[in-house]
Amino acid sequence: MIKSITGTKDILPAEIPYWQRLESIVEKIFSSFNYKEIRTPVFEETNLFVRSIGEETDIVGKEMYTFNDKSNASITLKPEMTASVARAFIEHSFGKLQPLNKFYYISPMFRQERPQAGRQRQFHQFGGEALGSPSPLLDAEIIIIAFRILSSLNLKDLTVKINSLGIPSSRENYKNILRKHLDDKKNQLSEDSRKRFDKNILRIFDSKVELDQEIIKNAPVLIDFIDEESKNDFELVKALLKQSKVPFEVDTKLVRGLDYYTKTTFEIVSGKVGSQNALCGGGRYDLLIEQLGGAPTPGVGFAAGMERILLACQNEKSLNLPGEKIDLYITRVDEDLTQKVFELAVYFRQESLIVELDYLGRSVKAQMREANKLNARFVLFVGGEEFKSKKLILKIMSTGEQKEYPLEELNEIKSFIYGEVYKSYPNY
Ligand code: HAM
Repeated sequence: MIKSITGTKDILPAEIPYWQRLESIVEKIFSSFNYKEIRTPVFEETNLFVRSIGEETDIVGKEMYTFNDKSNASITLKPEMTASVARAFIEHSFGKLQPLNKFYYISPMFRQERPQAGRQRQFHQFGGEALGSPSPLLDAEIIIIAFRILSSLNLKDLTVKINSLGIPSSRENYKNILRKHLDDKKNQLSEDSRKRFDKNILRIFDSKVELDQEIIKNAPVLIDFIDEESKNDFELVKALLKQSKVPFEVDTKLVRGLDYYTKTTFEIVSGKVGSQNALCGGGRYDLLIEQLGGAPTPGVGFAAGMERILLACQNEKSLNLPGEKIDLYITRVDEDLTQKVFELAVYFRQESLIVELDYLGRSVKAQMREANKLNARFVLFVGGEEFKSKKLILKIMSTGEQKEYPLEELNEIKSFIYGEVYKSYPNY
């Protein structure tokens, strides 16, 4: 039997309402900050990711789905969106259209990692990127958006961690200081951290190995060595977050796993999802666009893992959706009215009401059982004495009350149902 590929999952109809609720919150909150949606292809030239994310990162080194297509071009399934948004930004000359461009996205991503709870090989991210201004207002805005989306889902056990990585020159200077500090302890580090020591020394801070943690505990931290401008910007980001009542902590060891970052970085972690606890992460990347061949354009953004967020919602029981309901079930009382019932269903479905009818030739009793099973708000009876005198009976299922309508007044039935359904919509 053919099964789904390791690390991928079907999202089944019963889970879809949760995804849709999350997506609608994402769309609403990004729109209120005037971010516009962008959709990019699932695959790109491999080089785009190598040049953006960095050759020595785990993503590029170990995790990308890369293959040669039939014309021998090297193609990669996107492991993240920032590189793709940057490519699209340059390709479509957005910088010439207006000085500041704000994008958001919802998309599948691909990384060949070891699957576990909250970590998949095909997963989904939503995120946002603001391109065109170095202002810390945007760093704060990005963090506020991320926090607001998670709070709108009623998630409580959240920690916002922020740090600043400064500009590359101050970071290079710090890397030398760190290398000197760790030099005589290098042999005690784990194999992975020894490799990082040579290639990407900051990532030693990400090591989960206890002895590594012990060794770097007292190491000098980057934030003490960053340039004056980065320091001032970081102070303003903190002030703006305070003013917006976003609780945060400074985590001087937060280095992030992608090479393009400058200045502010952040993550929001949940205490409710186990070891894969980062629900989202992001930061500023002022040199990326230039590095990819565009005009110098500062940027800042974040991305969030949707599977992890929904797992946190499930574990915190924070997203209680009301049981699914259909709006109307049309019951065929007389057998020869099948075609009429079909016509009525097509009519009522025009206003995006959710309407169902019987396709299996069931008895009236069995149709009522089905209407109950589907949680129908209303049932319309077509047939019997009423129909002969050109009337339809509408039953309001929550109260049992029945209303009579002339057959030619379908519009009245539709307005009534629509009004009732609209009243019960949630606020998002
Ligand atoms: P990232 O930290 O690699 O950053 O990923 C962001 C989020 O995606 C993570 O916090 C996590 O929730 C989710 N995620 C990552 N890998 C997996 C996986 N294998 N399974 C499930 N969820 C996962 C970025 O991708 C950057 N592009 C963020 C960014 C945007 N920085 C600036 N702009």
